[in-house]
Amino acid sequence: MSAIINDIEIIKAKATKINDVDFDNLKFGHVFSDHMLECNYKNGNWEKPKVVPYQPITLDPSAKIFHYGQSVFEGMKAYKDTEGKVWLFRPLDNYKRLNISAKRLAIPELPEDYFMEGLKALLEVDEDWIPQNEGSSLYIRPFIFASGNGFHASPADAYKFIICTAPSGAYFAGEVKVLIEEKYSRSANGGVGYAKAGGNYAGQFYPTQLAVEKGYQQVIWTDDNTHEYIEEAGAMNIFVRINDTLITGPTSDRILDGITRKSIIELAKSEYIPVEVRKITVTEVVEAAKNGSLKEMFGAGTAAVISPISGFGYKEVDYDLPKLDNTYASFLKKCITDIQTNKTDDPFGWRYSVK
Ligand code: PLP
Ligand code: COI
Repeated sequence: MSAIINDIEIIKAKATKINDVDFDNLKFGHVFSDHMLECNYKNGNWEKPKVVPYQPITLDPSAKIFHYGQSVFEGMKAYKDTEGKVWLFRPLDNYKRLNISAKRLAIPELPEDYFMEGLKALLEVDEDWIPQNEGSSLYIRPFIFASGNGFHASPADAYKFIICTAPSGAYFAGEVKVLIEEKYSRSANGGVGYAKAGGNYAGQFYPTQLAVEKGYQQVIWTDDNTHEYIEEAGAMNIFVRINDTLITGPTSDRILDGITRKSIIELAKSEYIPVEVRKITVTEVVEAAKNGSLKEMFGAGTAAVISPISGFGYKEVDYDLPKLDNTYASFLKKCITDIQTNKTDDPFGWRYSVK
């Protein structure tokens, strides 16, 4: 069946898979909704996006994505409130960041309408896939990759922009213990760390595997030059609470400008929590852990929202964080998710109504 909504062609799936999904026990990014948005770049132009059934993609083995990793992606969520209204959180920031990442990877800029109208059309068609349960949401994965062919190491002449979605629960199942990295780096000055480029994540897998073998769940990335500055927590920005001050590092070439991070900074300030955006040294975190002034550490990102860190390892020593009753992490997580799910006012104008 084919129809036009918002001027976007919709080709519906023959049958829905929704009845096979246990919405009370959702993992993260494990089952995929019935449809996806697809948009092709050919002959110097992005063609109009279409909503099509979720399906495999056929590519030539010489497609440049396979050889040179020319790909970027985003991570967003859609929420359904108790009245069944659908909301996004700061979606234009994801759109802008996708193009910032695309530019760094020499991928052509995507028009705003194709992203926003395409996403809205997709969400309308797959509205029933947006979970309403506490702690669940529809994880949205927009991505662009080089579908054009050739072994020449240069930008492709064809790309695909796809959005697919996955009803999802929590990203982390339990406690998160992290290892402060002393050898490997996620990014470097002048590199692609600030972009959401697929290869950035592939490069993290091996050092993270080594950390997992030692009993940690994630790596805390440090600067590539000295390994003395704390930069990110796996695929999340990092916050440290020393006494009552919340500290996060400044964004740079090496650090992703996280939407959750910047929202937390604004939220915390509006709640009169002292916030410092400045470089954080490993030495000060270790010292604070030793003298008891290190109260909390947490990661922040769309997928994990706010993920408390229970302890960290550094130079073969493990440091446990205290178990506090009232943490900034749980307070700020409630503030942000209440805004996202329309349970509270949104004085910042972050919530975006889909219909
Ligand atoms: N840092 C990295 C490396 C990430 O992959 C992510 C995830 O998107 C973040 C930080 C958090 O960014 P955001 O809050 O925009 O999801
Ligand atoms: C997100 O938080 O949305 C991300 O993109 C992280 C991802 C690697 C799961």
